[in-house]
Amino acid sequence: MININRTRRLRKNSAIRAMVRETSISLDDFIYPLFVVEGEGIKREIESMKGNYHFSVDMLVKEVEELLALGIKSVLLFGIPGEKDEVGSAAFSDQGIIQKAVRAIKEHHPEMYVITDLCMCEYTCHGHCGILTDDKDVDNDKTLEYLGKIAVSHAKAGADMIAPSDMMDGRVKYIREELDKEGFVNTPIMSYSAKYASNYYGPFRDAADSAPAFGDRKTYQMDPANSREALREIQYDIEEGADLVIVKPALAYLDIIRQARDTFNVPIVAYNVSGEYSMLKLAVENNILSEDVIMETLISIKRAGADLIITYFAKELAKLGLVR
Ligand code: PBG
Ligand code: ZN
Repeated sequence: MININRTRRLRKNSAIRAMVRETSISLDDFIYPLFVVEGEGIKREIESMKGNYHFSVDMLVKEVEELLALGIKSVLLFGIPGEKDEVGSAAFSDQGIIQKAVRAIKEHHPEMYVITDLCMCEYTCHGHCGILTDDKDVDNDKTLEYLGKIAVSHAKAGADMIAPSDMMDGRVKYIREELDKEGFVNTPIMSYSAKYASNYYGPFRDAADSAPAFGDRKTYQMDPANSREALREIQYDIEEGADLVIVKPALAYLDIIRQARDTFNVPIVAYNVSGEYSMLKLAVENNILSEDVIMETLISIKRAGADLIITYFAKELAKLGLVR
């Protein structure tokens, strides 16, 4: 018998494969995004993101009940307001869609951990993530004042955690100070720290009606070619008080997730975004790829170093019993 290194011994059957498996996924790792709209009795499938829906607040409460029964413990809320204007007033109104949604969920299902996405692009008539200057750039410091107001109004409505996704400079520090001033010292901030100007957001922008009316987001979101800059963005956000940091998107940026994990000690969150979801969903639906590709993909995100994954697949996988 020749003496060679043998690795196949540890792949002989499913028991030993499970014993030596290095990476696992549980429902505790998932954050599930939900879209909430004005109205009543609405559960409307999103064309570009099959299996995801626009919910009115009443139907959202029912959905949350179902999610809890499936073992999903955390949701990330996106609001689509009835009215948009230059400064996104509906984003910080006490009667805003997110504020109503959070209050309703917390009233009926206080055990659901509710994270609110904090941005202005769904609320501004121009679709940019902040307040515009006269020459139509996004005014960083003016935008901070609005982000602070929105964050406080989310916290007042009962949000458990705030997730700013605007990519303005200094927003984590500003939001932290505003939350603290209002007594929300225990409300964590999960910052979209390394958020790239990505084409993978297309389906989301349909779903959230948040595409910019002119130009693009390249003056605030990151250049896909950069990785050292991502570490700098994350470092600044941690210094400013971010409790968790997000890398977004996930799949084309697994190297960034790995570097973030190796460099920092805060929880690293990967956002498996709408385009990544829809690509796989369509391939599976059309029998081009096996359904198992979904688990393979999510495992790759965890193996890269993510502690948590924001994913539109969460409910489906829980339902299928593939993740528990
Ligand atoms: C906006 C925002 C975006 C996403 C969440 N919040 C992207 C964008 O329009 O720039 C994308 C989420 C996804 O694609 O699933 N600040
Ligand atoms: Zn935005």
